[in-house]
Amino acid sequence: MDRIRISGGNQLRGIIPISGAKNAALPLMIASLLTSDTLTLENVPHLADVEGLVRILGNHGVDIAVNGRRERQEDGYSRTIHFTCRTIADTTAPYELVSKMRASFWVIGPLLAREGRARVSLPGGCAIGTRPVDLFLEGLAALGAIIEIDGGYVNATAPKGGLVGGRYTFPKVSVGATHVLMMAASLANGTTVIENAAREPEVVDLANCLIAMGAKISGAGSKTITIEGVTSLSGARHRVLPDRIETGTYAIAVAMTGGDVTLEGTDGSLLETALDTLRRTGAEITQTETGLRVVRNGNGIQPVDVVTEPFPGFPTDLQAQFMALMTRSSGVSHITETIFENRFMHVQELARLGARISLSGQMARVEGVPRLKGAPVMATDLRASVSLVIAGLAAEGETVVNRVYHLDRGFERLEEKLTRCGAIVERVSE
Ligand code: UD1
Repeated sequence: MDRIRISGGNQLRGIIPISGAKNAALPLMIASLLTSDTLTLENVPHLADVEGLVRILGNHGVDIAVNGRRERQEDGYSRTIHFTCRTIADTTAPYELVSKMRASFWVIGPLLAREGRARVSLPGGCAIGTRPVDLFLEGLAALGAIIEIDGGYVNATAPKGGLVGGRYTFPKVSVGATHVLMMAASLANGTTVIENAAREPEVVDLANCLIAMGAKISGAGSKTITIEGVTSLSGARHRVLPDRIETGTYAIAVAMTGGDVTLEGTDGSLLETALDTLRRTGAEITQTETGLRVVRNGNGIQPVDVVTEPFPGFPTDLQAQFMALMTRSSGVSHITETIFENRFMHVQELARLGARISLSGQMARVEGVPRLKGAPVMATDLRASVSLVIAGLAAEGETVVNRVYHLDRGFERLEEKLTRCGAIVERVSE
């Protein structure tokens, strides 16, 4: 199993290219199931989660070509991939595939909309809470789907004549369930209104792609999305938006190590709350023509309290990284996690580096310390593992992050991007 070995203490200086967003690429790829034409996606990041979804989509009959060729292009960052699903080969998404990645459950929407039925295993993914699927099922039921759960599978069937437009108000904001309802409603008969929809930029990106495919969607990015169903969707060409979580992660890394880095190809408007929070810690952040410039020279790290919230609030996917930063602040900060109930597994690992963190329910109290010291640590989930890398970059001596397969799920060429900016980071394979 691969490990990442970090010799901490160097500042970061240079340019980091930001990849296409994993959390946009996944639903966009799934949208290819909605049409028999080719959906071409540009700027798809090269990640284990993308590869996993490629396998799942292949099982449903999607033909995948990279840059016009069938083989994968291994060099370069994000790629252009063509997805063509002439016919749905299989409406079952089996446990062996779905259990590895929660987002693969989302195929339920397009399969049901296009074929009138879907049998999808209950999902797996990062162990950051119970993560039920009740909102997906309630939402699809509002479009007329008949849902049964049997042997670990969800069996969903559309009424004769297909799904029908309906109204659904989310009792709790869900990104995934908003994606799924938007996709399913695009091919339903009549109009669907989704209330209390997720407003994440990735939802807007999916809506824009669906609109390019011929869907009639308005309001994406606001709390109310209206979808007028159409009988079929066509192919389209769409560019995946930049990864705001990768952007925020490297911005936090620079805020922690100090230095001067331009995050190339990204857009600060995708993560304003996180950037404002980082500015309050002492980082200088400016949007330039090529991306975002993050600078921290000399001044200490100020403690700032954070509460995670659905977009446009502070993202839960940056909570662990921000906590790493706060371990070196000049005071006490409080970090409250409101989205996932079990997303503090990085706390005990950060403590191994010398961090002082105490937990009380959903709130962590982080008391800044003058220095962290390298140690072996264990990655527990995707975002937690990168928080350990960030802490390792700022720690004295050597940090070894074990179980880095979590990182490969969501960060394209992490060690290469960091090394280019002066960090000493290497992957050790066994
Ligand atoms: C997506 C992101 C993930 C991010 C999360 C919140 C992708 C691939 N993943 O995950 O990185 O951390 O949004 O921004 O885009 N919930 C229910 N019932 C449901 C569905 C969700 O109770 O049927 C709960 C979840 O357990 C969680 C909350 O709602 O507590 C938000 O989850 P959701 O927005 O659905 O997260 P994902 O779409 O899985």
